[in-house]
Formats: sequence, C-alpha cells, structure tokens
Amino acid sequence: MTVCKTRAELRKIVEEAKKNGKSIGLVPTMGALHEGHGSLIAAARPENDLVIVSIFVNPTQFAPNEDLDAYPRTLDTDVALAESLGADIIFAPTAKEMYPSCDDTWVEVTGNITKVLCGKSRPTHFRGVTTVVTKLFLIACPDRAYFGQKDAQQVHIIRRMVKDLFFPLELRILPIIREHDGLAKSSRNVYLSPEERKAALVLSQSLSAAEEAVRGGERSGARLVDSVRAQIACEPMSNIEYVELHTLPDLTPVTEPLNGAYLLAVAVRFGTTRLIDNTVLEVF
Ligand code: PAJ
Repeated sequence: MTVCKTRAELRKIVEEAKKNGKSIGLVPTMGALHEGHGSLIAAARPENDLVIVSIFVNPTQFAPNEDLDAYPRTLDTDVALAESLGADIIFAPTAKEMYPSCDDTWVEVTGNITKVLCGKSRPTHFRGVTTVVTKLFLIACPDRAYFGQKDAQQVHIIRRMVKDLFFPLELRILPIIREHDGLAKSSRNVYLSPEERKAALVLSQSLSAAEEAVRGGERSGARLVDSVRAQIACEPMSNIEYVELHTLPDLTPVTEPLNGAYLLAVAVRFGTTRLIDNTVLEVF
C-alpha cells in the first residue's frame, strides 16, 4: 500500500501502470471512511488492476458557513480500512497541492440538475465537486470511477459532466449502505447525539413508507411528498430542508400521475447536523 501526497508521485505510478496495460479504478472520497466507502473500494478491487482511493476534504465544495474545519479527518484508520479492502494506492493531497493557484478555473454543470435539491441550499457546492472530480480524473486517469447512490444528485451531475466532457471512463454507481436500523451511513453521523441518532431513523422509515405506498398503487407525486414531509415533521428533533421528487436522470419537475423512474430525496437537520437520504421510485 502506497500513500501519495503529491500529484507528481501519483502521476508516476499511473504512467507506469498505463505503460504496462493495467486498468485503474478510482474511488474519490473525503475520508472518515465507513462501510459505504468500503463498498465502493470492494467493488473496484476485482474490476481493476490498480485501485486508487483519494482522500481529500475538498474546500471548494464547502460554503464559508459549513463544516469544513470540523469535518472528521482520520487518515490513519482510513489507510488501514482501504488496505484491508484491497486498495493499492491512497492519494491524500493537501489543499495547496490540489489548488496551487487561486481558484479561478471551475468545471460547472449548469441547468436544472444543479439548481434543485442540495443545489438550492448549497449553490456553490456542486461546482466544487465537479471541479475537484475533474482534477482527480485528470491526475488518476481511471478506466472506472466509483460513486455511491447515497449522493444521488452528485451521481447524476457527474454523469452529465462525464458525458459532456467526453471523459474516457466508466462510472460505476453502488447502492446506499445503511446501518442495521436503516440510517444511511455517513461521515457526518458521528456528529449526532444519541437522541438525534434515534430521531434520524425517520428518514429511512419515511422513504420506505413511500416505496410501500407506490407498491400499494399510489400514483400521486404530491401525495407521496406530503406524506414523507408529514412523517418527518412528526419527529420533534427534525428540521426539514427539503423533501422533493424529481424525474430521473435530469431531475426535472414531475408530471402527474407518476409513470417512470423518480428520485425521492430528503435533506433534514438534526441539531446542527445535516443529513441526506433518498430512494429511487420505479412507477410503472
Ligand atoms: P464522501 O462524502 O466522502 O463520499 C465518497 C463516496 O462515498 C461518494 O461517492 C458517496 O456517495 C459514497 N458514499 C458515502 N456514503 C455512502 C453510503 N452510505 N453508501 C454508499 N456509498 C456511500 O462524495 C464525496 O465524498 C465528495 O463529494 C467527492 C465525490 C469525494 C468529491 O470531493
């Protein structure tokens, strides 16, 4: 297992691998690795000769009022977990290494897809994500890149970017990994008090209830959104940022009655911790 801190170190390894016809899988992360990240590394292992895990808390995707400084940083345990799952290389650059000059060059997906859901409350977030992911793609030259459905909007924005910029790579999207009681695993779960942790279960429970309603014949998007919102609002510790339903893959507004594939997504604060969760509803 090699830990690279600089672009130059990683480039050397990548060039050597390419020269020898080896395939490269990239798992971009911000660290504080848990089983959700682990599932991406485990999926990448058998599909690639070289598995690179990047660990970089990307400052440009945090707004000034967000948790950049508090974001958990656990490099030593991250390296051990990644190694145990078969990763070959950790790329853990500094902010100066990734942003050596002023942040004047951005890669930005525009349009509705970045304006709804998290894009509404975090207007510069996805520009930071697409910029850093572009940099990582250009440094690591992956044949395959691995992302989690947990960040569903991120997935669809990166998919659009890869298509529009002709990145020669395959995106692999893995399902949401949850705790035994349904809470989606997240690096931010460590911020939750025991009471907030318990209250946060309402997210997966309300999304499961919506899935169940669709299975039971519900075809009204408005009613689905209302019932998820009502269920979450019943939890006194919750503070809803959004409960939204959008078409897939473009995240456009739904027309009634539902017919097709939809993303039902929520963002809710418990205390100061903002959690997101989602499910894909296939309504036919
Ligand atoms: P981070 O939040 O560390 O997540 C890294 C990857 O792990 C993302 O693709 C995310 O969707 C996936 N992931 C997180 N929790 C998961 C879960 N419970 N189940 C399955 N996959 C999960 O997303 C980012 O970092 C950043 O925005 C990044 C893409 C690295 C760019 O900075």
